[in-house]
Amino acid sequence: MSEQQAGGPPIGGVGQRGLLNGWVLETDGLTKQFGQLTAVDNLSIRLQPGEVLGFLGPNGSGKSTTVGMILGLVRPTRGVVKIAGKANHEHPEVVSQTTGAIIENPAFYPYMSGRDNLKALAIAAGNVPDTRIDDLLKLVNMTERAGSKYKTYSLGMKQRLGIAATLVTDPAIVILDEPTNGLDPAGQREIRSIIPRLAEEGHAVLLASHMLHEVEQVSDRVAIIRRGKMLQEGRVGDLLASGGYIEISVAPNEVGAAAEALSRQPWVERVEAREAGLHVSAPADSGSAINRALVEAGIYAGQIATQRNTLEDLFLELTEPTESDAAGGEVQA
Ligand SMILES: Nc1ncnc2c1ncn2[C@@H]1O[C@H](COP(=O)(O)OP(=O)(O)OP(=O)(O)O)[C@@H](O)[C@H]1O
Ligand SMILES: [Mg+2]
Repeated sequence: MSEQQAGGPPIGGVGQRGLLNGWVLETDGLTKQFGQLTAVDNLSIRLQPGEVLGFLGPNGSGKSTTVGMILGLVRPTRGVVKIAGKANHEHPEVVSQTTGAIIENPAFYPYMSGRDNLKALAIAAGNVPDTRIDDLLKLVNMTERAGSKYKTYSLGMKQRLGIAATLVTDPAIVILDEPTNGLDPAGQREIRSIIPRLAEEGHAVLLASHMLHEVEQVSDRVAIIRRGKMLQEGRVGDLLASGGYIEISVAPNEVGAAAEALSRQPWVERVEAREAGLHVSAPADSGSAINRALVEAGIYAGQIATQRNTLEDLFLELTEPTESDAAGGEVQA
């Protein structure tokens, strides 16, 4: 992750995460059937401290059901959820000890201020240092409005206070299920800026979302599911490294000759002719080699630009509805 943002408060460690190493969350063969429907199908995901795992899938693909099983709210048909090495059905206490989650609108007292709401949660949890509330308010950019009554907050402020609330007990795992739902672009951006900071502080963050650019911007790894099944999992950079291309503009009457010249280069994997240029699959740093090969063939390119694959390209490729798909599967980029 990037360096910690300047001015951010250090988030102290009252939680259990210092005791943990390796995977803090593991699901193994997790499956949930609702009657005939297999909502989650043999899903194995892993999460370690200090990383954001983007859990991505179209509407109805089983993200919230998976989150429900992790939190012990939905009983798996098969498979197991292990939190800090313990199966959550055998050790239900491990969930509340190690996990903070926003799954719906969190319950706050409407006539109390944001700060007092957090204080109430801290008293209920016990053992929370006083300074933590102010640190958390700062983290979620709520210091200025911390004294106002909760009921006067905008949706974005409520959501930010909700994130602060999940952090009161300093949980090892933070689960955010569609945290920017219903927020305007500025509100979405504020939430997005908070997520990497949670990982920098050592939390393991599971971010379930169908918002592709949100996930791409803040995740270290992504797990992409469709109809409850894992389609692909990996580091964002690795997943996007494959599938990019280099776009070359040449005069339309030179496209053929340029394609021929580049096809002869051993480092060029594939050449696709376009109306006014070419798309070339080759190592991302081959710009000058491409230029040289073209010049040697007497062709001068107007532009040579590396086009990175986006998570959206990958996602749409992977989750493209098949004929057996029922209606739905909407995706928001
Ligand atoms: N309690 C339930 N009873 C029956 N079917 C359910 C139940 N909960 C979820 N489902 C179904 O399971 C599937 C997965 O739902 P889920 O809410 O996990 O998807 P999701 O990926 O979170 O979707 P979204 O992006 O819309 O939040 C859907 O087809 C849903 O209708
Ligand atoms: Mg959901």
